[in-house]
Amino acid sequence: MSHFICKFIWVVHDSMGSTVRKAVIPVAGLGTRFLPATKAMPKEMLPVVDAPAIQYVVEEAIKAGLSDVLLITGRSKRALEDHFDRAPDLEHALEKKGDRALLDAVQYSSALGPLHYVRQGEPKGLGHAVLCGRQHVGDEPFAVLLGVDLIDDRDELLATMMEVQTRTGGSVVALIEVDPFQISAYGCAEISAIEGEDYVQVNSLVEKPSIEDAPSNLAVIGRYVLHPAVFDALESTAPGRSGEIQLTDALQRLATAEGKGSGVFGVIFRGRRYDTGDKLGYLKAVITLASERAEFGDDLKAWMKKFVS
Ligand code: G1P
Repeated sequence: MSHFICKFIWVVHDSMGSTVRKAVIPVAGLGTRFLPATKAMPKEMLPVVDAPAIQYVVEEAIKAGLSDVLLITGRSKRALEDHFDRAPDLEHALEKKGDRALLDAVQYSSALGPLHYVRQGEPKGLGHAVLCGRQHVGDEPFAVLLGVDLIDDRDELLATMMEVQTRTGGSVVALIEVDPFQISAYGCAEISAIEGEDYVQVNSLVEKPSIEDAPSNLAVIGRYVLHPAVFDALESTAPGRSGEIQLTDALQRLATAEGKGSGVFGVIFRGRRYDTGDKLGYLKAVITLASERAEFGDDLKAWMKKFVS
């Protein structure tokens, strides 16, 4: 991921073949895995080197050509809205100091907007969070990006998924191969190849199966491009695993349904993904991305070698 300060001007990916315009980013989760750090601060604001994790995700959506970004927020998430808003006092102070680089960095996140916000009143699960975006999204395909997964901007994923959605008219999930013992942390897909295509048919999906029950080692990661038919499916999806309305369960129904908006397809991702969902994954993401920074990457790597030995 390259340094955000350099990126006032976008190179929008060539997603010409896609009609998808909107992104939904659920950010209402409590962040219990990072307590006490997240007691008074949203987990999405945890810094990954020097930008909050959420900024990478919003940046990815915009780079893929999604011009309308909706955050599904909740209680205690004010800092997210502030981060993507102007900060007149701070900007004024930096201007007076003549600190152009920091001023650019501060203005960069508000220049990504305007973003839209809807609140998820109750923590009823990822499926419910997506459903909260229904009115804003309307009757068109849309992307969902989960903040725990950061996708390296040198490895294209979302634009490919958007094109597959437009070509198939169904819904698209992103899949990675994981060690079998890890599958119980993810939605899991059973797939078949489609001749001549680089995407796959998803025959069934199950949320966080045990290793014995998992139909494969293909895990769903936090990027989706969905047909709006998913909203009706979510409306009639009963609470599933952990008593929550699961997006995976609604997609399982679309995978086996027939008619408009049915069918689920998978793009198997083999690029660089940083899982910031737990403490170890988060630390690895920070170290990996920091070690690639021009201004201190080499020093950091040299120090790490010494530290490890
Ligand atoms: C959610 C989804 C799961 C998916 C995962 C990807 O789970 O329910 O199917 O594999 O995101 O990050 P969560 O990690 O929010 O429990």
